[in-house]
Amino acid sequence: MNKPDSAKIAVIGGDGTGPEVTAEALKVLQAIAPMEGFDYQLTDFDFGGERFLRTGEILPAGTVEALQSQDAIFLGAIGHPDVKPGVLEKGLLLELRFQLDQYINLRPVKLYPGVETPLAGKTPADIDFVVVRENTEDLYCGTGGFLKKGTDQEVATQTAIYTRKGCERCIRWAFEYTQQRNNPKGKRLTLVAKTNVLTYGHDLWDRTFQEVAQEYPDVEADYNHVDACCMWMVKNPEYYDVIVTTNMFGDIITDLGAMIQGGMGVAAGGNLNPDPGGTSMFEPMGGSAPKYTGQGVINPIAAIGAMSMLLDQLDQPAAAARVMNAIQTVTGEKMQSQSAGRMGYSTSQVGDLVVEALSN
Ligand code: IPM
Ligand code: MN
Repeated sequence: MNKPDSAKIAVIGGDGTGPEVTAEALKVLQAIAPMEGFDYQLTDFDFGGERFLRTGEILPAGTVEALQSQDAIFLGAIGHPDVKPGVLEKGLLLELRFQLDQYINLRPVKLYPGVETPLAGKTPADIDFVVVRENTEDLYCGTGGFLKKGTDQEVATQTAIYTRKGCERCIRWAFEYTQQRNNPKGKRLTLVAKTNVLTYGHDLWDRTFQEVAQEYPDVEADYNHVDACCMWMVKNPEYYDVIVTTNMFGDIITDLGAMIQGGMGVAAGGNLNPDPGGTSMFEPMGGSAPKYTGQGVINPIAAIGAMSMLLDQLDQPAAAARVMNAIQTVTGEKMQSQSAGRMGYSTSQVGDLVVEALSN
């Protein structure tokens, strides 16, 4: 995107520990902006479970337009113990992804120094790849229904929708991204799908992938079935450079990715609308973790990582890289663990350590 004079950033702290980790990400933003010489304006949006329980509103009228006029959105977490699972996820997170046409879900899987992975013998050099997940189609469209609901003859359908436009724009973006990432070990884009069973939808993906690949001869166009990918991610994560995949499979494999990079306290993601004027949204993947709310024990590293991604998207790559380096200094030299309550520091102390490391 073009560098705005003063970036407009919408902040949705959300539920549970969302506001706590958001505060640390904003602390880091406040520190890095003068260091790198840029301005920003924050606008708070109080969406989430509390507001829903109070007013019945999830995304009040006019909200989408208000968010659309922002340069980026930072989302802490949504999910409230008193709200039925799915209501806020569908009404807020998925709704924003669809309405703002954030068709890329970008999930870096990177093991930072000092972070424990459950994969024996693997180091930060082995676990460093990126998943590009399509974010607007597939089973997430919510197409389907019931017949004879509640009877013993009940039928339920849930239809996966794939379009040429939807897969092509995602695949093309993934090739561009792989080219720019320019992995010194070789540029490889792996399509992860299930062409041996999903012989219509994933055939469309595969054909489109092979066609677009012709435009990127310097990128190795690779293919894995999703089940095999789950094996390789555990056995040989170093094989991967960039993965491009469908929405549902992407949801599943990115949680596997989060675990091998050290858990939900670390994993960050972006919902991107890379088109001109598009508004993207960045979030830590950990969720609202209600049982840790208000205790100052939740890990803000994922949220700070999401802020680094946001800075990159605001065309501040130097600031983004500096935040990413500071995170790695803190995980490598300071924190004892990435688990809530076992970091050796409080939530806000970890934020302070990252700020301190920005000047190193
Ligand atoms: C994610 C989440 C969401 C998804 C949920 C909360 C709807 O798991 O961002 O990966 O399934 O996409
Ligand atoms: Mn998920």
